[in-house]
Amino acid sequence: MKKLPFIFGKSSDSINFTDREEESLRLETNFKSLINTTIISPRRWGKTSLVENVAENIRKENKKIKVCMLDIFNVRSETEFYEHFAKGVLKGTSNQWEEMIENAKKFLSHLLPKITFSPDSQAEISFGVSWETLQKNPDEILNLPETIAKEKKISVIVCVDEFQAIGDFSESIAFQRKLRSHWQHHHNVGYCLYGSKRTMLLDIFSNASMPFYKFGDIMFLQKISNKKWGKFVNKRFEETGKKITIEQAEYLAELVDNHSYYVQQLAQQAWLCTKTSCSKTIIDESLQRIKNQLSLLFVGQIETMTSTQINFLNAVLDGETAFSSQENLKKYRFGSSANLKKIKDALISREIIDIYTQKVDILDPIFKLWLKEDFFKIKLY
Ligand SMILES: Nc1ncnc2c1ncn2[C@@H]1O[C@H](COP(=O)(O)OP(=O)(O)OP(=O)(O)O)[C@@H](O)[C@H]1O
Ligand SMILES: [Mg+2]
Repeated sequence: MKKLPFIFGKSSDSINFTDREEESLRLETNFKSLINTTIISPRRWGKTSLVENVAENIRKENKKIKVCMLDIFNVRSETEFYEHFAKGVLKGTSNQWEEMIENAKKFLSHLLPKITFSPDSQAEISFGVSWETLQKNPDEILNLPETIAKEKKISVIVCVDEFQAIGDFSESIAFQRKLRSHWQHHHNVGYCLYGSKRTMLLDIFSNASMPFYKFGDIMFLQKISNKKWGKFVNKRFEETGKKITIEQAEYLAELVDNHSYYVQQLAQQAWLCTKTSCSKTIIDESLQRIKNQLSLLFVGQIETMTSTQINFLNAVLDGETAFSSQENLKKYRFGSSANLKKIKDALISREIIDIYTQKVDILDPIFKLWLKEDFFKIKLY
């Protein structure tokens, strides 16, 4: 099957990757100088794509730097973290599976490593020691990247994606303290810890009473600009023998607030509907189609919200800014201003809104559109 010129739902590979020149350079420099980095942005703006692209470039360019990737989205506890960490570091620092096994035996001998092969002959490592035992003495694992780096005379970068998951571990702060106390002594390793949930990650990394305070460089990933999206979408159409003007491509990105994931999705939909030349009608209809496809999901999301949370979203869409005025507390039935704070905190924690310099933003542009055009239109007060 012919590959489509736009992708979403997977991190962007190099042909689909656009812009991010400054951020890539900053991250690459940090990797090469072993400066720890934290990257924060709302979901689907492009953190994973950025880190993977920089990692790929470094791997090609310099064999003396090994980049290890682990994603802890589904990791729920300290013990699971150790397992992921050990495997991620072993995989990232070994060229072949034979080497991985050898390293496991050499550097993690206390854990009694065992090798099994899956049907697609991928080597998998498991460990004979219970992870609970290990929890009491995790030094060997937490120091693994430094041990390997020293032994092989290389530098190691450890990238931990969805780092905000750490906040949900039981005794999270004690665990963070454990990580920090080991990692700060690593002179041949750089850490890149990234995820969404800005408020929570900021608390971890910029609160003076938290273990990861001043751990390294904090990057707030911004959206890719409308101009860059315009050029990118235009180029991808042209490369595949179809046309879209720069103005139309910029309009397309604008419709979804330049949100990386949705620009790719909308561009793909519009591209599929275009025979030779794209038009405003095609773009508008494509947006409606995506909104309709997602509407069931949005209904599900609404069903898990309280009525005051929904009222809050309504107030945001009405353009209100003085949420705690007596008039608005009454109009939107927020209750007290203490209750209003609870509503905001819950919506932030669920990554539905973000509040930045006092401005409230509904993060998912299509959800926002659906609320405006469908949900609140029909709902009767
Ligand atoms: N630099 C880029 N150029 C083009 N498209 C991009 C870029 N970065 C991200 N995208 C698009 O956005 C989508 C989401 O990106 P990615 O998965 O990297 O975001 P994320 O911030 O890691 O999201 P999450 O917080 O959900 O993990 C990608 O699948 C891709 O379609
Ligand atoms: Mg990601």
